[in-house]
Amino acid sequence: MTTTSTVPAERVLTGDRPTGPLHLGHYFGTLQNRVRLQDRGAEMFVLVADYQVITDRDVADRLAEHTENLVLDYLAAGLDPERTTIFAHSAVPALNQLMLPFLSLVSVAELSRNPTVKDEIAHSRQTGVSGLMFTYPVHQAADLLSCKATLVPVGQDQVPHLEVARTVARRFNERYPHADGTGVFPAPQPLLSEAPMLLGTDGGKMSKSRGNAISLGATEDETARLIRGAKTDADRRITYDPATRPEVSSLVLLTALCQERDPETVAEELGDGGAAALKRTTTEAVNEYLRPLRTRRAELAADRAHLRQVLRDGAVRAGVVAEATLAEVREVMGAVV
Ligand code: TRP
Repeated sequence: MTTTSTVPAERVLTGDRPTGPLHLGHYFGTLQNRVRLQDRGAEMFVLVADYQVITDRDVADRLAEHTENLVLDYLAAGLDPERTTIFAHSAVPALNQLMLPFLSLVSVAELSRNPTVKDEIAHSRQTGVSGLMFTYPVHQAADLLSCKATLVPVGQDQVPHLEVARTVARRFNERYPHADGTGVFPAPQPLLSEAPMLLGTDGGKMSKSRGNAISLGATEDETARLIRGAKTDADRRITYDPATRPEVSSLVLLTALCQERDPETVAEELGDGGAAALKRTTTEAVNEYLRPLRTRRAELAADRAHLRQVLRDGAVRAGVVAEATLAEVREVMGAVV
């Protein structure tokens, strides 16, 4: 008989903004981890952060399409809606209501010091800073605390937001303890991915918005074209040395991740083959690795109604949890009925 190990009492929540297709950076940075956590038996919530899209732009462009496609990428990557609650946070009223008391627990000075928000304001496509941009980390605290998440798989840029959520949880517990002195909220912990960062084909950070990413749903030809155009250098000897040869090393790393091998071994085998051979190897490795995922993705893509049903079921499940949390919050605050 085989037994599966479980992660008792871990409640995991993480999510993404629906602004475009997920790419290989997401896959090796976080998606793979989420599927592992799910398969180890953690209680999983994955959210589509649709309200967060309007933090740095006036209108969420093609929101329904991006939202459905995000669900499609999740399912293709191996998230199972029977075991993982997949939902859009705009569809859970109780979650959103938590933002109100939470806003009272942070100062304007604290909000203005958040380095990720500062960076986003600097890169925003808007001329002014909206109230939502300024306060969305508190909304993210509502995401996390509505389901009392304990573990949050995220990238380094999200750590300041986790700190806001932890502060909100701590202050809420101090200000509004249960009659027996215990607090309503656990402090969510970040779970940082160990996968080193993959660069985009231009040598910059791989990003949905920079046109330098290989999306999970790209065709094999598109993948080949993107990798063929990737920035490299003139040294024919292939090495794995991220500090001095970031572009070549990123392709070596991508190959290694897809082949589940060491990047050093991959580089050694390529030897003096030059960038063209490296790119051919990388293309083959990526296309081979993604083939089953892409096949699944194409099947799932044919049934948009199913994708919407996953979101509806997820919103119901997340809603039950968030309503219980909100009821507890209102009770300790002394709100009547
Ligand atoms: N801010 C995250 C991003 O931009 C998305 C997000 C929203 C999130 N709510 C979250 C991530 C809660 C983790 C937990 O990618």
